[in-house]
Amino acid sequence: GEDRMKIVEEIKKWKQKKNAVILAHYYVNPEIQEIADYIGDSFYLSKVAVGLKEQTIVFCGVSFMGESAKILNPKKTVLMPDLTADCAMAHMADAETIQKMREKYEDLAVVCYINSTAELKRHSDVCVTSANAVQIVKALPNKRIFFIPDKNLARYVAEQVPEKEFVFNNGYCPVHEHMQLEEIKKAKEQHPQAEILTHPECPEAVCAISDYIGSTSGIIAYAAKSSCKEFIVCTENGVRYELEKQNPDKKFYFAETEPVCPDMKLITLEKILHVLQTGENEVHITEDLRKESGKTLERMLELAK
Ligand code: 13P
Ligand code: SF4
Repeated sequence: GEDRMKIVEEIKKWKQKKNAVILAHYYVNPEIQEIADYIGDSFYLSKVAVGLKEQTIVFCGVSFMGESAKILNPKKTVLMPDLTADCAMAHMADAETIQKMREKYEDLAVVCYINSTAELKRHSDVCVTSANAVQIVKALPNKRIFFIPDKNLARYVAEQVPEKEFVFNNGYCPVHEHMQLEEIKKAKEQHPQAEILTHPECPEAVCAISDYIGSTSGIIAYAAKSSCKEFIVCTENGVRYELEKQNPDKKFYFAETEPVCPDMKLITLEKILHVLQTGENEVHITEDLRKESGKTLERMLELAK
């Protein structure tokens, strides 16, 4: 409505005033994706943050994303519209277990999904995202891999890289882990021609019935190039916005209980405007932690080239 247009105008004005740019993940609400300067998956967003000319980054996503942007761009101001937007999975590993595994196995690479705290990144050897995990694990010289925090992405990567030995951790994304298999099967019965597109954070049973498995960007790229006209999408429902935008002639279905990440949905236009105006909710990180966790992100960017 009119109020929304007013807020959008104000955001544009304040963006210029503060020399700011808006980054958004595909899971945030459509009205945020509409006004974002850059939208993408976790890998794209971590790459694009490097080399932006603007001084301030407003990061519409969860805390590990803003933190990663700050780690890679220490001189920039990174603002989070809502500091409480956090990824549950990012905390599902611990330094003591990493240490134990390092003692137990010689020649172990600790591979850290970017969905993790800076503290976990610091104790790891390299970061990955769902878009580059297979490529990076293959490129590592180590035969044994301890993959944290996500057990589902770990299992998927392990299947793709059978020449390596995996040690698994017990983390998961609550949104993907609780995807309803029965509902997906029901959707397939209702739309037998539809292809099933799945994020690798999903459990094995969901992956097993899928036609494509990949990151949010991977899913979006696959849907655009497929000759199929309808799809059942097994990831967070925010991707619908870009899928429908790119493919007005195609149909996208979700499980009846639509997967929603409540943290991603905390981002609103009002909160974006507020941080632009006040400079509140800035991401801070100590220089030691930044340097040590930064090594793992930089190694990711290097190996994913
Ligand atoms: P990607 O966008 O990298 O596929 O990540 C999915 C996700 O869960 C981000 O929180
Ligand atoms: Fe974390 Fe899952 Fe939300 Fe992504 S969808 S931010 S992995 S809780």
